[in-house]
Amino acid sequence: MATPAHHPTAPSADLSAATLRQAFGAYPTGVVAIGALRDGAPDGFAASSFVSISLEPPMIAVSVARTSTTWPRLSGLPVLGLSVLSHGQGAQCRRLASRAGDRFEGTDWQATPEGAVLIEGAALWLTARVGAVYDGGDHEIVLMELLTAELFPGVEPLVFHTSQFRELSPHA
Ligand SMILES: Cc1cc2nc3c(=O)[nH]c(=O)nc-3n(C[C@H](O)[C@H](O)[C@H](O)COP(=O)(O)O)c2cc1C
Repeated sequence: MATPAHHPTAPSADLSAATLRQAFGAYPTGVVAIGALRDGAPDGFAASSFVSISLEPPMIAVSVARTSTTWPRLSGLPVLGLSVLSHGQGAQCRRLASRAGDRFEGTDWQATPEGAVLIEGAALWLTARVGAVYDGGDHEIVLMELLTAELFPGVEPLVFHTSQFRELSPHA
């Protein structure tokens, strides 16, 4: 099969938010739901900036918008749940990111005794404690110490790319 032509756009110094959103969207990621119980109800949001950081000690990081009104409600809690969303959970992901209404409506979840909220059907469950926080421009880079990991082998992840939810497919 012929290699498709690779036509870049001209290099541009336009690093406006719109351009950068498009540019950063060329990098495919998964999405995690970050959640915890507050006054007995689940609170949380979707984040595609999840990244694994360290094996020893076990650490991950997430970049959180400084404008987030959700994060200040979660950052002081003792334990957070992080669920790697699975293929088919795109609609739930959008709801978990919505600014209006109940983000957990239509989503099955469970809480650990410590109050971490984990999404049923996810590909991976992690629980973590907030650690150091670093300056990340209009975001904060939040390091978290991992406490537990529970894998669901065979559950395919949701993929986020160019503002769309996609699924993995094997390379031909
Ligand atoms: C696919 C996807 C990925 C997102 N990733 C992040 C992220 O990494 N960091 C972040 O702060 N917000 C992220 N968001 C936005 C939050 O999920 C949520 O919309 C935002 O926190 C809403 O603002 P609020 O906290 O003021 O209610 C993402 C949203 C979507 C749909």
